[in-house]
Amino acid sequence: MIHARQGFGREGDRRGVAHALLGALAGVVLIVAIGFLSSIIVSGWIQRDMDLRAELIFHSIRDRAAAAGLDEKGALSRVMSQIAEDERVLGLGYCAGNGKLAIATSEMPMNFDCRLFERQHGVGANLTMPKGDRIRVNSFPLTVRAERGRLLVAHDLAAVERGERRAQTYVAAALAAMAAGFTVLAAALALSLRRGWQQSPLMAAQGSAQPPGPRADGLSGAERGVNALLADLRLRRRFAQGVQVKWSPESLRQLLHDELPNAQVMTVSNREPYIHNRVDGEIRLQTPASGLVSALEPVMRACRGVWIAHGGGSADRDTVDGHDRLPVPPANPAYSLRRVWLSDEEQDGYYYGAANEGLWPLCHIAFVRPTFRDQDWASFRAVNRRFAETVVEEATCENPIVLVQDYHFALLPRMIRDRLPKATIVTFWHIPWPNAETFSICPWREEILDGLLGSSILGFHTQFHCNNFFDAADRFIESRIDRENSSIWLRCAETLVRPYPISIEWPPRALAGQPPVAQCRANVRARFGLGEDVRIAVGVERFDYTKGILDRMRAVEDLLSLAPHWIGRFVLIQVAAPTRSKLDAYAALQQEAEQLANRINAAYARDGWKPIHLVVRHHEPEEVFELFRAADACIVSSLHDGMNLVAKEFVGARDDERGVLILSSFAGAAYELPEALIVNPYDTHCMALAYDRALGMSPEEQGDRMRVMAQQISARNVYRWAAQMLLDAAWLRKREKIAVRA
Ligand code: G6P
Repeated sequence: MIHARQGFGREGDRRGVAHALLGALAGVVLIVAIGFLSSIIVSGWIQRDMDLRAELIFHSIRDRAAAAGLDEKGALSRVMSQIAEDERVLGLGYCAGNGKLAIATSEMPMNFDCRLFERQHGVGANLTMPKGDRIRVNSFPLTVRAERGRLLVAHDLAAVERGERRAQTYVAAALAAMAAGFTVLAAALALSLRRGWQQSPLMAAQGSAQPPGPRADGLSGAERGVNALLADLRLRRRFAQGVQVKWSPESLRQLLHDELPNAQVMTVSNREPYIHNRVDGEIRLQTPASGLVSALEPVMRACRGVWIAHGGGSADRDTVDGHDRLPVPPANPAYSLRRVWLSDEEQDGYYYGAANEGLWPLCHIAFVRPTFRDQDWASFRAVNRRFAETVVEEATCENPIVLVQDYHFALLPRMIRDRLPKATIVTFWHIPWPNAETFSICPWREEILDGLLGSSILGFHTQFHCNNFFDAADRFIESRIDRENSSIWLRCAETLVRPYPISIEWPPRALAGQPPVAQCRANVRARFGLGEDVRIAVGVERFDYTKGILDRMRAVEDLLSLAPHWIGRFVLIQVAAPTRSKLDAYAALQQEAEQLANRINAAYARDGWKPIHLVVRHHEPEEVFELFRAADACIVSSLHDGMNLVAKEFVGARDDERGVLILSSFAGAAYELPEALIVNPYDTHCMALAYDRALGMSPEEQGDRMRVMAQQISARNVYRWAAQMLLDAAWLRKREKIAVRA
């Protein structure tokens, strides 16, 4: 292919020369033709001029003859001689009635027969004289003293020939000058176009800083320009359409290939995508309950990069190689997981303390007071630094793309920027960003803002959270906010601050092995001992106080008291994965939830039926999807949530287009899924009504709502989420390349 292209380049040159020669030949032929044509035209003009002059002479002589009366010879001869002094006239003659030339001026040839002109009036005839001279003669009837004769006016045709030659010369010279001018102009224009093209931002962006001429790819500068332009147009068309693109692992890989060729992609998160635990002497693999992990994992499988995360599993050290790496997913490796080890003290300070007792409650309005401890912050800093060093170790180039995840790494972007100034750092904040008033209580606020503004791009789920971040930067650090461009400038460096709503893969992987919905229902009913007429609502969360688990249980209680016909005919299956249990707030929540469930169950239980099934354990995605498929409704009642992927997964699980989603207005997902039944989780009465409405909704309405939500999620899936950030990253990299040249 490359050879063919090289051949094409030389062949193109030869053809170019041939075309130039042909062009030159055509030019010469054209000049000769135009010269010839112009001589005909000029000769016509001169002869018409002669005819006109002859006619004027005739009229002049006729008038004089009539007015003054010329005697036969003398007077006429004198007049004719005077006129013939005009050098443009060769001579004049008068043919008498007998056809003989009676009068002739000195230069007038004498040896032609007057009868030749008898029928002529004014129009000249060209004659060749015996000596070869060519003349033009005009003849007019002229009566002098009642004798009908003819006046002859002769012009020398040599003048015409001289004029023709002169005209040819001038025209040829003019044409040649014009041709030369055009050639120079065209060459200059072509050269400037070619240069302009090669030096365009687009070409620059495509890395064509080399001088013109063939490169290793065998393409000329112009050919590369065309390719780059076409590629760019293709991409612009595809990506400008945004949601029209069917985002998939394949299109994401294509994007990386087209827009970020050879870029190294690294992800950094606290939670790892695969955890190895030792259970009863055996190593067991677990995928954690984390929205972040479920979103990023399919992206990393598509990008094939490195994922750096805390190795928190009890068997994690036993499953890595000498560089603390392992290929994952274990069954079908697509990327590399690099584990970072943290001591118990570090976890206490960085993870439990600063991240989950400080920043987590700070950012979620769940009315759990944040705790800020100096020693936790010191640990947070140290761990962020450790991860920065690991990023540098894993970097195979000076400008990797580093995808920094979440509030555990608020300082990491700046630390990476200091070590790898050319890196493209894309930070995504998976939880809400509070308003400036709330943020102001954080003693580390300036350091956090500075740390995050080490990023090239900072993403939130919603514009609302971006706006809160702008307000915080405006109030607490010396920065310049560019709201038009949605960016913040800090110490001459710009960070784009944009919303990128996170999502799930579509169709979700966990759906693949699912039995039909009827089978899922049967399995779940059997497992929970539910009769055929019992309607099911499900809730699937980490056991977190931000999720509104207590509130949805209270709403069940309200429902049963408001609409007692549901007693014995409705259950809430609440699956809750223990999380951060070391922290008081989490332990207290778990305890309170268990007590609440017990109390409500005690109040309403009958004949082996109870309204709330609280299952406190981790569920793998396949189990969760079986539950979703068995349910009549899914309740997501977060008190505050960045996005909430459970809501999207429920829709993804229902390929039968049945089931009702009840969704908190305080979850980011509510912006994208208004077809859900939107509720205020603080209003248990309203949530009770939502349960009732969901359970009574017709299959048609369920289908209508589900279809719209499914369309939305499938179009704005997780690959699109990643693609939007990577496209912005690619755009920044192009801009930087051009800025370096300027
Ligand atoms: C949220 C956070 C993630 C976190 C996940 C699970 O989704 O945004 O960063 O991984 O919760 O929490 P955990 O503390 O168990 O990792």
